Amino acid sequence: MFGPGSRPALFDKMAASAADVINLDLEDSVAPSDKDSARSNVIAAISAVNWGNKTLSVRINGLDSPWWYRDVVDLLELGGDRLDQIMIPKVGCAADVYAVDALVTAIERAKGRSKPISFEVIIESAAGISHVEEIAASSPRLQAMSLGAADFAASMGMQTTGIGGTQENYYMIREGAKYWSDPWHWAQANIVAACRTHGILPVDGPFGDFSDDEGFRAQARRSATLGMVGKWAIHPKQVALANEVFTPSEAAVAEAREILAAMAAAKERGEGATVYKGRLVDIASIKQAEVIVKQSEMIAAY
Ligand code: COA
Ligand code: MG
Repeated sequence: MFGPGSRPALFDKMAASAADVINLDLEDSVAPSDKDSARSNVIAAISAVNWGNKTLSVRINGLDSPWWYRDVVDLLELGGDRLDQIMIPKVGCAADVYAVDALVTAIERAKGRSKPISFEVIIESAAGISHVEEIAASSPRLQAMSLGAADFAASMGMQTTGIGGTQENYYMIREGAKYWSDPWHWAQANIVAACRTHGILPVDGPFGDFSDDEGFRAQARRSATLGMVGKWAIHPKQVALANEVFTPSEAAVAEAREILAAMAAAKERGEGATVYKGRLVDIASIKQAEVIVKQSEMIAAY
């Protein structure tokens, strides 16, 4: 759940939401004239608000701005221990992450901070997607990577003002009928592969049209199918939608458990492959089913 650092009235509502991760924003939802006051609001709220067991993250300004170093210094020197994570926007190469890591490491040592700050990065530029794998490997602090559709589209020169979702002009024609395709797919798949190679979590970014629940669901379902583990909410009503899509359904978990049982029975018979509901299941199916069961168990334990 995202909220602008310049709107502190939202912070308690964010803390009370059903989101797993809170992102207090110092970057693009905060006007340049509000940068200093937003930073102060966020620093005060880190300790003043009860964030429960949520991951608390602050999005700093980009490395192409004059604000980011002050964001990092003040967050770590004045922000207290409750802060879990820094989100770094507009990352274009591994060296961008290194720069923030070096500053964070120096401050942690100087101030004797005992809890290491983790990072999440946003891939939202042509450079970011071109260097996605080196970015995924850039720092032991890195836990997650998001696709930022709006900046990504701008950087790529894409002809759209939509933030994620279906793009009217991205279609093919067959026998006179239009079939819409997904212009975000290739970037998402690249992010998922880079993340899974280096043991970090791929996350789908914002869906701008918060009046369109079905559009959000469709985008989120595609992301979940591709292997992403969650999605940003830029409005409170999107939290329930994201939790609904990224929590494996009871039916999916039940089926995964049945596949595991069928494979256990096959193993006792000395078989590596068997038939479940008229289709092949084999040892790879065990791994697939375990993804779903494990996700559901982790969510239940949280
Ligand atoms: N977090 C928590 N609560 C929020 C919220 C947020 N991000 N955005 C809105 N709310 C609350 C409002 O305070 C209001 O609460 P109330 O019913 O108690 O009065 C309720 O949800 C409905 O809000 P609504 O009037 O529909 O929205 P808005 O016009 O106040 O704000 C946005 C709409 C899009 C400007 C706002 O949701 C927002 O700033 N979102 C986050 C933007 C952001 O962080 N961008 C950076 C990442 S892309
Ligand atoms: Mg952005």
